[in-house]
This record gives sequence, C-alpha cells and structure tokens, in this order.
Amino acid sequence: MIEFDFSNILKENIGQQHGLVSDFYDKHNTIIREAYKKIENSRGKSSYKFMELPYQKLDDIVEYKHKLEEFKYFVLIGIGGSSLGSYALFKALKHQNHNLINNKKIFFVDNSDPSTLNDILDVIELENTVFNVVTKSGSTAETMSSFSVIFDLLKEKELEVSKHIIATTTEKKGDLYSIAQKYELDTFFIPEDVGGRYSVLTPVGFIPALYLDIDIKQLLEGAKVVDSAWRRKQVENNPIVLSGLINYLYDKKMTRNILALMCYKDKLENIGNWYQQLWAESLGKKYDNDNNIIENGSTPVILRGASDQHSVLQLFMEGPHDKLIVFLNSKKSLSDVEYNIDELSDYRSLSYFDGKSSEELIQSELKGVQYALQKVERPNYSITIDEIDEFHIGGLLYALELQTVLSASLYEVNPFDQPGVEEGKKATYALMGRDGYDEKRKEMEENIKNKLTFEIKD
Ligand code: PA5
Repeated sequence: MIEFDFSNILKENIGQQHGLVSDFYDKHNTIIREAYKKIENSRGKSSYKFMELPYQKLDDIVEYKHKLEEFKYFVLIGIGGSSLGSYALFKALKHQNHNLINNKKIFFVDNSDPSTLNDILDVIELENTVFNVVTKSGSTAETMSSFSVIFDLLKEKELEVSKHIIATTTEKKGDLYSIAQKYELDTFFIPEDVGGRYSVLTPVGFIPALYLDIDIKQLLEGAKVVDSAWRRKQVENNPIVLSGLINYLYDKKMTRNILALMCYKDKLENIGNWYQQLWAESLGKKYDNDNNIIENGSTPVILRGASDQHSVLQLFMEGPHDKLIVFLNSKKSLSDVEYNIDELSDYRSLSYFDGKSSEELIQSELKGVQYALQKVERPNYSITIDEIDEFHIGGLLYALELQTVLSASLYEVNPFDQPGVEEGKKATYALMGRDGYDEKRKEMEENIKNKLTFEIKD
C-alpha cells in the first residue's frame, strides 16, 4: 500500500559522514520505544482523538450528499487546516481541469486577498451556489470576512442563507456556531479535540469531498489499514516510526534543518502543501514540553518533480549539506501516455521514447535524481503509494499525521498547539479594531522602535 525506501540514508550508500548505520534504529531503540508508547498511551485522549477518526461512522454525513447535488457551484471558505486538506483531496483525486469539464464546479476562498473572492463571484451564479464556511474557532479574520461578504450578497439578492450556507465549526463555541444557530444553517461539527491541521478526516474534508463524489468511506479504509499496521508492527520495523526518527535525526544530530519534500506526481503536490502546514505548525516550537526554550523545527519545503529538477536540484546537489530530501510518489498514474515515435524517429532526442510510456519517463527521472543525490552523498528517502485513489490517499494522510506526532514526541514538543499562529491572528484583530484587542494594538505600536523604508518612484 505504502512503501518506504530508506536505502539512501545508509552509510554504505551515501558515505560515513552523511549516512546512518544500517541498524540506526537499534541505537535509538529506547527513545523510539518511549515516543511510540507515549502516543499509544494517549490514543483517543484529548488531542490524540484524531487517532480515532479512521473508525468513525459515516452514514449520517454520507446521507447529506444528496443535498449538495442540486448545486452547480460549491465554494469553500476557510484557511490553513480548514482548507488545505480538502484542497489536497480535490487536487489528488479529481481531474486536473475539473471545473472545465464538469457541471459541478468547486472553488476555494483561502485568503483575504480581495481578488480571490471577487474573481470567484464573477464566474458563479449565486442562486446555484452553496458556500461551505469552515472555521474551527469560528472567528478567523480571513474566513469570517469572506463569510460576511457572501452573507450580505445572499441577503441583497433575497436568497435564503439557510439554503446556501453550510457551516463547519466547533459545537457550542465561536461566532460561526451562534450565527449558524440563529439563521438555521446546516451545521457540521469538528470534534473539539481534533486540531485544525489534523481535521481532514472530519466534516472539514468530507463535505467538499462528498460534493466531488470522492468516496469518503474509502479514505477511512486506507487510514484504518495504516493504523492497524502502525499498531501491529514492532517499533523497529514500523516505517512510519522510522521515517519520523530519520527526520528528527537529520535535523537534530546531522544539522540538516530543511526537509525538502519532492512530489513526483502533480496530483500529490497539494498533499505536500497540506503536509507543509502539518509539519511546520506541529514542530516549529519555541518551548519544549518542560518549558525550556529550544526554538525547534526543520523547515518543510515542497517541490514538484520532475519540474523542479530544472530549478532547485542544482542547489540540492552542490549547495550546503543542510537538507534531507523526501520523495513522494505513486507507482501508477491515473492516466498514462504511450509514445509513438514514427515519422520523427531520425531524431535522437525522440527515437528512444518509442514504445515507452510517460510513467516510465517520470519514474526514470526520479530514479536518476535519487542516483545523482546518492552519488554526491545527499541523504534522501522515498514514500510511494501504489496508486492515487481514495484508499491510498486516506492512508497516506493518516500515516503522515502519525509520523508528525512521532517526531514531536522525539523532539519533546506539543504537536497540537500553534501559539505563533495565534499571535498573528491577535495582531490582525488589533489592527482591524476588534473589540477586546486595544491593549494588543498599544503593545504593537510601542514595539516598533524605528523604521527603515525606501521607495523607488516613477
Ligand atoms: O492548524 C491550525 O490550527 C491552524 O492552521 C488553523 O487551521 C487556521 O488558523 C484556521 O483556523 P480556523 O479553522 O479556526 O479558522
């Protein structure tokens, strides 16, 4: 289902200085056992409730699909963990030009840049649109501001808000919940203990997925298989644990604090962007669990193969030894092309393609890069799913969540809070004059001691 290939982190393949011994997990047996035990002991408790999601019942939510069917347009309004997961599902599991070839079209408003919302409003028909407003806190500025625009527009056009808006939020908390109650909006709840970036397998991901005819039961089937493998396997043979350990070791012990995830299928690139948030927000922490300042975290960078072989690869090959490279791939593609070089067979740049497929080409490009990196002693490993479908994507997302909490346990940080994000949110509220944020505004004004700005004028 998911294959992990760690060959190119071994000393035998990438040299004494940059590689790990082949039984590297034995050396770290105690810490990985402890990290794993801590997670398993917390399974189902507080923020570890995300580990129960693979086993949830879906019948009620699946029922809701028929209600979505009447709409020609679906617009998701949400940001960060309230949008990245559903967008990743959409891009992985649907046609690359979905909106061009389908009667049911989907759009994502995941920013407060006015053109994002306006350019969508220009192409939809309001009376045929359902807006899914997704915010766990029920209060995020980017989401609530866009919500206010569509609420206003629906009122202006005398359309029923209860028909055209679905709320996905936390039960009995936040303004979106109160508004949903008042205006009798269809409302789905995000389990309170499941953090935003761990919420793709909740109504956050499910409602848009249902609109897109994505089989959400299969997403969970995949997650279940991964969960039982994670539970069954000895820690030393558990590839999710080992990948979490490798990420941790290269950052902490081998000074490689860039985690470059190179996605070798276009459909997987947005899984990469989802993972970027998961990894960065979960592990980028000032304090460890004992409140010591550690300023932790490796920086996730998402790239796309083979395209980025022609942009950043030069740096990866010859630049500083500060990266661990992870390849994300699938064995099969949904579509393949066979090259038929007939008339043009005199050209040496074309003739060798004859009878081969585009899948063979991209896999050769990946193998070529892995070889090139190995030759110059750059550590890399790969995660490969068999195919890109609901089952494998559900399994992959859940595996990456487990990997992240495992690494957090090794780093001894809390993978479920995000004080840095909250600070930015509060500063925005203060600047926009939200009630209760006067002190924050004063603090901000006092904090800027000096300015240094330049302008080039025409
Ligand atoms: O992972 C997180 O908690 C954050 O990135 C949130 O998802 C993001 O800030 C959006 O928050 P909310 O869902 O409350 O609007």
